[in-house]
Amino acid sequence: MNIYILSILLSIFAFQTCIAAVNCQDSQALADNDGICYCNYSYFGTPSGVNTSCTSCGGSLSSPYGSISSLACITCPSDTTQFDPTTGQCICTDTNAVFNYTADLCVCKANFYGDPSSNPCAPCPDGQTSKQGSVNGCQGSQSIILTAAKFLVCFLMILI
Ligand SMILES: *[C@@H]1O[C@H](CO)[C@@H](O)[C@H](O)[C@H]1NC(C)=O
Ligand SMILES: *[C@@H]1O[C@H](CO)[C@@H](O)[C@H](O)[C@H]1NC(C)=O
Ligand SMILES: *[C@@H]1O[C@H](CO)[C@@H](O)[C@H](O)[C@H]1NC(C)=O
Repeated sequence: MNIYILSILLSIFAFQTCIAAVNCQDSQALADNDGICYCNYSYFGTPSGVNTSCTSCGGSLSSPYGSISSLACITCPSDTTQFDPTTGQCICTDTNAVFNYTADLCVCKANFYGDPSSNPCAPCPDGQTSKQGSVNGCQGSQSIILTAAKFLVCFLMILI
């Protein structure tokens, strides 16, 4: 790799690091990777740069990070989750699951699999991995090879 490409990569990295340091005015707003301030769990508001103003859902209502209206505020499903007043999130009873606000249900964390609505999420067998929300099982080392191949292709494209 020549110095020119290295310096481009370094400046992209520096740029992203700078952007990530955006300070949102509202204490409940948190900047995404592009430096736009979005409201945190249990809050909603229109993203508008650093001055995004966040309103609480109120009570024991939860909403996902980035919600823009009160329509996103929900009651955590009591059969599989509990509202956590500290973080404002719906916490799944299964500690190996996370709540998916879009699907309105608990899904297994990455490197676990199963359907937490009927059975506890099981860890992947040794040497296998899974994406968050995997129901049927985990993938073997093939996915690592695929990831490496994708990385190599990206890397070659940058060089070209
Ligand atoms: C954000 O609000 C501050 C005052 O609260 C104001 O001085 C500033 O211009 C605003 N910034 C933007 C981008 O609207
Ligand atoms: C947003 O919520 C997360 C999870 O509760 C918490 O760790 C983080 O500190 C919060 N950020 C802000 C800016 O409130
Ligand atoms: C959440 O559920 C939605 C709808 O089923 C799905 O499209 C999305 O990929 C899920 N996200 C995660 C992180 O599991």
